Amino acid sequence: MRKRFIYPVFSLLILSCVESCYIPNSLYVFSPQTIPAGYQITKVEAVNCDPKTLHLTVEDPSFTIQSNGLIEARIPVTVATRGRTFSVRAQDNSGPGSEMKVHLVCSAKQERNENGQAILKRTKRRWSPPPINILENDKGPFPKQLETIVSDSDLKYNVYYTMEGPGVNQFPFEVFSLHKDSGVLTVYQTLDREEYPQFTLRINALDRQTHMPRDLPLDIVVAVDDVNDNKPEFQGKLEFTVPEQTADMVVGKVNATDRDDPNTDHVKIKFMLKDGLEYFALNPDTGVITTVSNKLDRETKDTHRVTVEIRDLKGAPNGLSNTATATITLADINDNPPTFTQTSYKASISENEGEKLILRIPVEDKDLINTPNWITKFVITKGNENGNFRIDTDPKTNDGLLYVTKPLDYEKTSNMKLEISAQNEAKLSGTTAQWMSIPVDVAVIDIDEGPEFLPPTVRYNVKENIPNGTVIGTYKAVDPETKSHNGITYYKASDPGSWVGVNRNTGELTVTNTIDRESPLVQDGIYNITVRAVDATSKSGIGTVILVVEDENDNKPLIPEELRMCEQTDDQLGSLVVVAEDNDLSPFSAPFIFSMPPVHDGNWDVKPHNETAALLMQKKKLPTGIYVVSIIAEDQQGFGGKQTAKMRICHCINGACMDKARSVVLGPLGILALLLPLFLLLLLGLLLIFFCSSKSEKILFDDTGYSSGILLPSNTEAPGDQVDSSLIILAKTGIEQAVKGSVKGSMVNAGWLGNKSTSTIGGYSVHDNGFQQNSGLNTMNKHTFSSSQFGQYGQHVGSQVFGNGMDHAQIVQSPAEFQNWRTNAFYLREKLIYLGNEMIEENECYADDLIHCYGYEGVGSAAGSVGCCSEHGDEGNLEFLDTLGPKFKTLSEISTMR
Ligand SMILES: *[C@@H]1O[C@H](CO)[C@@H](O)[C@H](O)[C@H]1NC(C)=O
Ligand SMILES: *[C@@H]1O[C@H](CO)[C@@H](O)[C@H](O)[C@H]1NC(C)=O
Ligand SMILES: *[C@@H]1O[C@H](CO)[C@@H](O)[C@H](O)[C@H]1NC(C)=O
Ligand SMILES: *[C@@H]1O[C@H](CO)[C@@H](O)[C@H](O)[C@H]1NC(C)=O
Repeated sequence: MRKRFIYPVFSLLILSCVESCYIPNSLYVFSPQTIPAGYQITKVEAVNCDPKTLHLTVEDPSFTIQSNGLIEARIPVTVATRGRTFSVRAQDNSGPGSEMKVHLVCSAKQERNENGQAILKRTKRRWSPPPINILENDKGPFPKQLETIVSDSDLKYNVYYTMEGPGVNQFPFEVFSLHKDSGVLTVYQTLDREEYPQFTLRINALDRQTHMPRDLPLDIVVAVDDVNDNKPEFQGKLEFTVPEQTADMVVGKVNATDRDDPNTDHVKIKFMLKDGLEYFALNPDTGVITTVSNKLDRETKDTHRVTVEIRDLKGAPNGLSNTATATITLADINDNPPTFTQTSYKASISENEGEKLILRIPVEDKDLINTPNWITKFVITKGNENGNFRIDTDPKTNDGLLYVTKPLDYEKTSNMKLEISAQNEAKLSGTTAQWMSIPVDVAVIDIDEGPEFLPPTVRYNVKENIPNGTVIGTYKAVDPETKSHNGITYYKASDPGSWVGVNRNTGELTVTNTIDRESPLVQDGIYNITVRAVDATSKSGIGTVILVVEDENDNKPLIPEELRMCEQTDDQLGSLVVVAEDNDLSPFSAPFIFSMPPVHDGNWDVKPHNETAALLMQKKKLPTGIYVVSIIAEDQQGFGGKQTAKMRICHCINGACMDKARSVVLGPLGILALLLPLFLLLLLGLLLIFFCSSKSEKILFDDTGYSSGILLPSNTEAPGDQVDSSLIILAKTGIEQAVKGSVKGSMVNAGWLGNKSTSTIGGYSVHDNGFQQNSGLNTMNKHTFSSSQFGQYGQHVGSQVFGNGMDHAQIVQSPAEFQNWRTNAFYLREKLIYLGNEMIEENECYADDLIHCYGYEGVGSAAGSVGCCSEHGDEGNLEFLDTLGPKFKTLSEISTMR
């Protein structure tokens, strides 16, 4: 079935009947969309016509044709996008004539000039054939001839044809072929429009001899016509989410595509819902799914699957269709309040217990877990007026956790009634339900508590200095359970001054010592003690007693003990403001009254200066020196008396007293006096070492009659045999003089000399003010040593002197002191000579390396009786032994072992 189309290719296509007058039967002309009047459209060339009789006519009155074949627009013509066609006839006397269809094709290409006016560009006029159409999926048989293509150059020249383009010599190959001589176009296979919607082929007419083109190349288009061979396809995932319980809500849009020709009904898709119609609707044209019912309940069914059908050909029964399942998930709204699993709860807590979980309250909420619609917020709506409770939510289980935060008191409330409401973080919606509440009873368990002071602090006013034994008051505690005082005992917990005693059974407070308002323990007249009450089961409670100490006039106004005044250089008499102090409060204090005692030396007078001070004035000119001044100072109540002050009148330079400065300077003799004892002690140590290392004979220990060993002889208080007592007295007075002559207070830490009251023998020293632990030898003034003392102690002294035997002491600097120390040196030397002799006699050094037994001195010879110390120490008291140094302790232990 060969179809033969004869096409006017290039300029003319000649069929049969060459002699008759002829014009091509169709002509395609590009034209602007709007053709102005006078626009030359094309020129028709007639063939084999007798120019004399040729008559050319155009059917369309909008156009005219001239005798030379030129077609022009008579009026402005608009060309529709699909084109415009009119007929032209050519007729001469020779034949039947011929008709041609002129197709005006609207060319989209229009350029604009600067003025914005469309320039109608005349393109090279070509014969342009309509596309050749073939149907897709054509089953053949193949090869199949489509068209015959002939060039009009074929008439004049011997030409052959070639073809190129996709489908020929480009991919896909071998779809088309063109017969070289006949120009027959043949297709070889079934074509799929969705694959190759059209082919553009280029045909050339070439001269057989020269192989040169004899015509312009022609592009012909082979279009593949669409057949509805593709089903519509769904696009995207059909998964949608919509809140529960809402009608007329857009769920989502179903999208579909169809690969067929978009300009045909093959792609016009209709949407249809096959099921789930009671809840959902699907717009057939847009594919939008909406909800139609508010009965969708997530808690009943959270996911709906619906079948969607799409069909092309506008849903016609013969259209192609496809189905898919759309998944519609319902989103949660808070339409369920949390509910309790029980109607009420009970809990219990011991009294006085703080911060404790007492109850776990489970709840159920059907809404989506771990969302604000599910997470429960508990509120204590009643019973927590005092803030004893707190309720939290367990983030995992959603349980309510009820805590006690403030301790409860059984004696006040034994049962607490709470009301607890369970709510969500989100508000309720889509429901008429309300938040729920339940009652919770909390029982407070009684605990046996310790006694309690009532009130916890008590305040008593006490006069200072009230006599010992005065009752201040009674401060009792009660058992909180029984409210009774029975079986409670009282103790003092703190009383810094031990001023108050507490009666163990009655809690009565009495004065046990002098209460002094001026004591540093009293702050702003307040003195505190704490009392502990203990019951039979050893539980205790504490109470505070605040003593408000009332002032008494127990302090006189006091003036300074030492006063200083500059010597007046001119004839004026000096004066000085003397300020007195009274520790008492008003009215037992200032203003003070100052006066001179009735009997006085007449050197001085006083005048009131202000409330607390008087002006002390010289009545006659006095030389520098120290004077004793007596003044009577009395407080407001007339309490006071005569006081004496040492007045130093000194020579001043620029207001500074010169006497004092002079006395501080150390003369060369003073420094010598300072170093001499050091030298002597060094000498003594060296001598002792010498004697010990050169031991030649044993010394027999005479311990007969003494159970305590060899230490005992050292404690004899008798004066040493060979000491001249006059030397000792000389030493003593010398020291005293030195002290008087030296400046009090100028202490040197590394001093070698003892104070007048200090003495050390063999390990402990006694001062005026009590015991002071010490080991070593300091000074020997004021003591009488027996020769045996040193004999027995020699080794000990020798080993200790340089270790820690030095005491703080005052500087001794006067020549008298130097003399004193020379005396002491003499004494020491004497002592050492004796010691040496004795050692030779006994053939023994005391500090032998052998093991010795040292005994405790025993009764008849208390250690406290050593030397001068006996007059200060408690003779019968041996407690000092406990406070001795470690060396002495060891010694004492060895002694007692024996
Ligand atoms: C369909 O297309 C619309 C618009 O592009 C888009 O918003 C929607 O998510 C698509 N639907 C699906 C199921 O992919
Ligand atoms: C009270 O007793 C203490 C010692 O127990 C005593 O020092 C004090 O002087 C006494 N006070 C009175 C006012 O008797
Ligand atoms: C005594 O107790 C009171 C009240 O507890 C307190 O304000 C005051 O500072 C206390 N005084 C002393 C000296 O501790
Ligand atoms: C009294 O005078 C002395 C010395 O001028 C001064 O220190 C003191 O503060 C005065 N006292 C009063 C109560 O004015």
